[in-house]
Amino acid sequence: MADDLAAVQEACFPTLSPSERIRAEHYRTHVRVFPEGQHAVIENATGRVVAASTDFRTNIDFHRYQHRYIDAVDGNWLGTHDPDGRWLYSADIGVHPDFRGRGLATLLFAAQHDLIRRLGLAGHVAGAMPRGYPSHRHRMAIEAYVAAVVRGEIDDPTLSVHLHRGYHVYGIIPDYVEDPSSANYGVLVVWRNLDPK
Ligand SMILES: CC(C)(COP(=O)(O)OP(=O)(O)OC[C@H]1O[C@@H](n2cnc3c(N)ncnc32)[C@H](O)[C@@H]1OP(=O)(O)O)[C@@H](O)C(=O)NCCC(=O)NCCS
Repeated sequence: MADDLAAVQEACFPTLSPSERIRAEHYRTHVRVFPEGQHAVIENATGRVVAASTDFRTNIDFHRYQHRYIDAVDGNWLGTHDPDGRWLYSADIGVHPDFRGRGLATLLFAAQHDLIRRLGLAGHVAGAMPRGYPSHRHRMAIEAYVAAVVRGEIDDPTLSVHLHRGYHVYGIIPDYVEDPSSANYGVLVVWRNLDPK
C-alpha cells in the first residue's frame, strides 16, 4: 500500500517541504526495517487507506534533545532505527482530512502504546508540530504559546491531541521541520511506559 500511504502523507502535510515528506519508496523500506512500527488504518467498506503512522526504536539523550526531523529519520529511510533502542520515536502520524475527528489518531496511538508495552520500552517521543502557533505568533513567543496550550487555554490541532493522550512537553525545537504551518517548530513530547522492562 506504499503509494496509498504516500497519498495520505501528501494530503496530511501539504505545506511540508517535499524533501521532508515520506514517499512511496520510503514506505517500502520502512516495512523491511521495522515492520512492527508501521501502522495503517483501512476503511473496511472500500479498502481505502485513510490514516497511518511511522515509528522506529532509538535511544534519546534528553540533555541534547535539539535536532532536525530529517536527521532523526535518516532522510526518511529509518537508517537510525536501533533494534535495541529504549524509546519509540514517532516519525509521523497522519489522518486524511476527510476522516478526522473520528478517533483514528487515537486508534493509532493505542496501537503504538500497545507495541511499547509489548516490547517493554521506556516510552514514546514525538516532535509535535504546533500548527496553531502561526496564527498567534504576532502576539506571543513560542514558549508562551506552548505554556498556554499546556494550561488548556489554547487548543492546538496537534499538540493538544498529544497532551490529551498522556504526553508531556519536554522542550521546544526550532527548525525541527521546514513547514510554515508550524513556523518550523516541533515540540518534543514524551509519553512514559509505567512498566518498562
Ligand atoms: C493530528 C491528527 C493526526 C489527529 O487525527 P484525528 O484522527 O482527527 O484525531 P482523533 O479523531 O483521534 O481525535 C483527536 C482530537 O482532535 C479532535 N478533532 C480532530 N479533528 C476534528 C474535527 N475535524 N472535528 C472535530 N474534532 C476534531 C477530536 O475531537 C479529539 O479531541 P480530544 O483530543 O479533545 O479528544 C490529524 O489532525 C492530522 O492528520 N493532522 C495533520 C498531520 C499532522 O499534523 N500530524 C501530526 C504531526 S506532529
